[in-house]
Amino acid sequence: MAKFPKDFIWGVSTSAYQIEGGWLEGGKGLSTWDVFTHTPGKILNEDKADVACDHYHLYEEDIILLKNLGVKAYRFSIAWARIMPTGYGEINKEGIEFYSKLIDLLIENNIEPWVTLHHWDLPSALELEKDGWLNPAIADYFAEYAKICFEAFGDRVKNWITLNEPWVISVLGYSVGIFTPGRVSTTEPYIAGHNLLRAHGKAAKVYREQFKAIQKGRICVANNCDWREPKTELAEDKAAAERSLEFLLGWFADPLFKGHYPESMVEKLGDRLPKFTEEDIANIKGSCDIFGLNHYSTMYAQNIPETTTNADLHAIGGLHGDDEVLLTADENWKKTTMDWNVIPWGFGKLLKWIDNRYDHPEIYVTENGMSCNDIVVNEKVNDTDRIDFLHSYLAELSRVIESGVKVKGYFVWSLMDNFEWASGYSKRFGLYYVDFNTLERIPKESAKWYKEIILKNEI
Ligand code: GAL
Repeated sequence: MAKFPKDFIWGVSTSAYQIEGGWLEGGKGLSTWDVFTHTPGKILNEDKADVACDHYHLYEEDIILLKNLGVKAYRFSIAWARIMPTGYGEINKEGIEFYSKLIDLLIENNIEPWVTLHHWDLPSALELEKDGWLNPAIADYFAEYAKICFEAFGDRVKNWITLNEPWVISVLGYSVGIFTPGRVSTTEPYIAGHNLLRAHGKAAKVYREQFKAIQKGRICVANNCDWREPKTELAEDKAAAERSLEFLLGWFADPLFKGHYPESMVEKLGDRLPKFTEEDIANIKGSCDIFGLNHYSTMYAQNIPETTTNADLHAIGGLHGDDEVLLTADENWKKTTMDWNVIPWGFGKLLKWIDNRYDHPEIYVTENGMSCNDIVVNEKVNDTDRIDFLHSYLAELSRVIESGVKVKGYFVWSLMDNFEWASGYSKRFGLYYVDFNTLERIPKESAKWYKEIILKNEI
């Protein structure tokens, strides 16, 4: 048994598009995900999140679920198009009121709101009229939207996450094309990534200069990163694993914490990697008060054999291949229904890597969790695989904390089953089971288990 620190933050995460529904209600504008899901052929089974978990109407009930879990914190996202229907200009009062009520109710129930400003659902008008993340001006639109949120909610919200997983937006949206805006390019991912960093930088500057002194909150980015284990002891494979982490996490975390892109990216990408201006660097470098990490899996990494084709790379999850790393998995590794490898030691190694590379930041695990084939039998969901997963990842986490790494909080993805992007409703990550016909929420066994862990504050 290992105790967690007294002030450890236990939480759960969700995001607006994945749970809210109410896609045409309350004055909300369309987002890129509304449009993408309504485009035939983009999403498994043509699923859409027009209703999703109907959290827009059922939020009071969902706060009771949070209360019953005993979490101290709830991470959710604001739909930009609910606050500003076109993403710029006019403000939608009803949208402000919706999140304001949600925040008040959380606080009344002693649950800290952790708010993500952008979890992928870009207002569609910004995409259509202004070229979305490819346009440098998006940084100003984002900073303006962020300012409105700081003004409206910052008296009560003390933890802000500007962006969720800029790597996913850049690579799945602009290289692989399976997420919005569905583009396939070798240059655009780096332009989008660059503008995402600039957008965060400008928003963080607004917060630092206009709100922080009074509101006393913290700001960060939730970056995603899996662990990369060298496939062999060969120096070139060790270097490949390192390079893979740099292309995945360093791409965003290096500018945020060090003020420049990783050397390996500068070298391999040449002119494809945009350059920061001095103003950008002043905004971005040192702009995160804490380190947000979303972590799910581990892969073996090896230096790319010359015979590897692009098709091979795509097939094995190398995504776009610019890092020249071949990713593989051990066939004996346990997998989730997303086909992600369950490797708790990879989580520990990654946390130590972050601690070391970024000079011991305070880390919050803003997402971690498992998709399972959950089924309801006699009103129960016996998700022992998820309990095993959480148990092993939390045990690893407690060892890492014991070794001196400053991990201050942990959020399970997710509070409840929801719309899992290109996989639609085919994947279940929640601690609560959602019947998407009746919208009934049923606590899984893992919810009861997590509640116990929080109560005892030990694993
Ligand atoms: C993350 C994402 C979440 C959720 C999760 C599980 O990448 O931030 O929205 O979908 O993965 O796939």
